[in-house]
Formats: sequence, C-alpha cells, structure tokens
Amino acid sequence: MALSAEIHERRAAAVPRGVGHATAIYAKRAKNAEIWSEEGKRYIDFGAGIAVVNTGHQHPRIVAAVEEQMKAFAHVCFQVTPYETYVSLAERLNAIAPVSGAAKTMLVSTGAEAVENAVKVARAYTGRPGIVSFSGGFHGRTHMGMALTGKVVPYKKGFGPFPADIYNVVFPNTYHGVTSEQSLEAIKALFKYSVDPSSIAAIIIEPVQGEGGFYIAPFDFLRALRTLCDEHGILLIADEIQTGFARTGKMFGLEHSGVKADVATMAKGLAGGFPLSAITGRTDVMDASNPGGLGGTYAGSPVACAAAHAVLDIIAEERLCDRANAIGDIILNRCNRIRSRSNLNCIGDVRGLGAMCAIELVKDVASGEPAPQLTQTLMKVANENGLILLSCGTYGNVIRFLVPLTASDDLVREGMDIFETSLSEAVTRVA
Ligand SMILES: Cc1ncc(COP(=O)(O)O)c(C=O)c1O
Repeated sequence: MALSAEIHERRAAAVPRGVGHATAIYAKRAKNAEIWSEEGKRYIDFGAGIAVVNTGHQHPRIVAAVEEQMKAFAHVCFQVTPYETYVSLAERLNAIAPVSGAAKTMLVSTGAEAVENAVKVARAYTGRPGIVSFSGGFHGRTHMGMALTGKVVPYKKGFGPFPADIYNVVFPNTYHGVTSEQSLEAIKALFKYSVDPSSIAAIIIEPVQGEGGFYIAPFDFLRALRTLCDEHGILLIADEIQTGFARTGKMFGLEHSGVKADVATMAKGLAGGFPLSAITGRTDVMDASNPGGLGGTYAGSPVACAAAHAVLDIIAEERLCDRANAIGDIILNRCNRIRSRSNLNCIGDVRGLGAMCAIELVKDVASGEPAPQLTQTLMKVANENGLILLSCGTYGNVIRFLVPLTASDDLVREGMDIFETSLSEAVTRVA
C-alpha cells in the first residue's frame, strides 16, 4: 500500500507546484463527514472538498441516483440529444434561485465557467463592456475569473494580461475598517473618475466572501447596491458558488438581505461532488445571447444532473438549512468560548452566517496583526490530530469551517474538540 507521504513525494515530481495542497493526506475513502487516508487514518472533514459536499460524502441517495443514470447513459451532450433531467433541474433552480421575476437556467461544469457565462449574458443583454467586482472577492481561475478576483497572490500574479473593462472596488469589510458607506463611495468615485456607469454591464458580489475570508457583505450594503444598479441599468450578479445550497442557513446567501439579483452563479454544493454549475438569471437577460453562443460539450452532464436532483431532495427532506444554523451555533459558541480563554490572545474575530463560520487569527488581539504562520501551523497540527481544516483570507489568517451539513452534532463537537486542542498546540509551537 502506498502511504500518503510516499505519494506526496511522487506528486512533487509529477504535478506542477502551482496546483496547491491544503493537506498532504491522500484520500482512500470517505463517508458523510469523515475521510480515511491511504494508510487508514480517520479524519473529521471540516473542508467538505471546499464547500462541495454539503450533503456529505457518499450520500446513499446521490450514489443511487448516479448509479441509475450510469446504467442509462453517461454522456450524449445536451446540445445534441438533450435529456429531461437538465430541463427539470433548470426548472427547479428557476423556482429557488435568488433572482427577480421569471428565470431561466443554463448549466456548465465549474464555478469559474459559471462566472464566465454570467459575464457573457450580462454583456450580451446590456450591450455594455464593464464589470465591477470587489477587493478580496474570488471568482475562479480562468482569465475572466482572475480579472474579477480581488487578490493578486497567488491567483493573478504572473498570469496577465487580463480581459479589459474590469474594475475592482473596495469590499465593505467592517472588521478591517471599511464601512458600507466607504464602499459605496468607492463605486461612486469609480463612476466619476474612471468609467461612466452607462458602460457598466454588471456588478458581481459574493454575499459572503469565500476565499477572501468569510466576510459577510452587510445587508444594508447589498440593498444599496441593488438601488445603485437599478439607477444605472446595471445588472447585479450574485456569486453564490460558495454560499449556495443551504450553507448559510438559507438556500442562498443573498436571501438574508431580501435582495434579488438579476443573475446568480451556483456550483460546488449543487451536485454533491460532481462537476456541475449553473447560471440562473432573469429570462430577458438569459435569452439575450444567440443560439449556440452558450453551452459546452460537457455542460450539464447527465450524471451530475442526476446527483443535483438528489442533492435538492436531500436539502429539503433532511432540512439542511436548519441543520446549517444548528451546526453554525455549535461552531460559533465554541469559538467564542475559546476566544474568552485568556491564555490564547490570538483570536481577532469570530463570525458566521449559518454554517459558513470562520475564526480570524492574529499575532495578538491588541495589534490585530494577521497571523498566517499560526494559521498554517494550526492546519498541520489539526491534521496530525485527525481533523481537516481549510484556511482562507486576504492575509491567509482565517480558518473557515465547512463541515458537511449532514454531520451529526456529536461529530461537529468532536471536530471542535480537536480544533481547540490543536489551536493550543499550534500557539505553543509558533511561540
Ligand atoms: C465564490 C466563488 N466563485 C467562483 C469560484 C470558482 O469555482 P471553481 O473552482 O469551481 O472554478 C469559487 C471557488 O472557490 C468561489 O468560491
């Protein structure tokens, strides 16, 4: 049997270093919220494959749906010989997406591809080139995704030039001292000094920034953004790729603010681990492109569509929005308790929406200086202790909790016990 360490060495020779790795644990099998490595070690999974398996690893309903589909066909291409499950999935997403009025949905494969297509339909509909995005935002690794992304290292450095007419403004990150008013002022200044709003097709925003650090866009800001968009005929694109499918305690993150988008992008949690993404938007916007302008060979794979139908059933039947809130309570309560332990002095912030929770680590609370080294050490110690953790954030000092929403309270608590022990150990190691 190959051990993780041995495979990791082979990886270094066989796989480019640009393909990052949060752990050196090589997965052999997984079940619900647990993963077993090549050497048979058990890990509690607080990463969910980066917010993908909200419905847990190997959920029996998803496995059964996929097996059933594989018996029928794996691929025929929706643009050649279409299949009903794509259409019915579009109907289901049209009914639930946080989009105003009648909607239509197209399916592709990855989050970045969804973002690409959201920009395409927005430009086709408005006839305008410009797109506004936010500092700290993450929208994928394609050229348009990189252009929209508001973090240079590692996502953009060395990969330019990027598509033109992309404008990045400061995100209302209250923890780091940027108010909603300041962010709105930045957009108004952009419109005054750099580009006329009549040239802007869309503003794209994550209701809660994912890779950027789990910063929640203030609800008043989202409402003001909607008004600003309406004033200028600009479309609002909600990037729900990380916030979607019950993670925040509602089906979509934008729902917390009461705001509706014109277009929403979805991926990750949509298909329980199968590559599938969706763009759902106002019918008039989605219909602006010419036939043949949208799609792709693998777009809306029938196997992934079967999985997505099962995912939507599971979210409803197992009340995963409620579970997200319950899990979020356990995580936030525990983080706040750890924070109140006077001997640690390294927790700058604890925040969350539903089960989209994070803890921001600092060198000391008084200075608030980010602690990326402590964060990296914590992830390693947690791995040693049997817990998979992911970091995020502009300064690499945020631990994000992304446990599958099907995890039991006991398992979440066990994971938080390991988290607490590992944090103490990590603080000692970096001291
Ligand atoms: C908000 C957001 N948009 C877009 C993407 C890109 O998705 P993918 O990695 O599937 O291309 C991500 C991935 O983390 C994301 O979190």
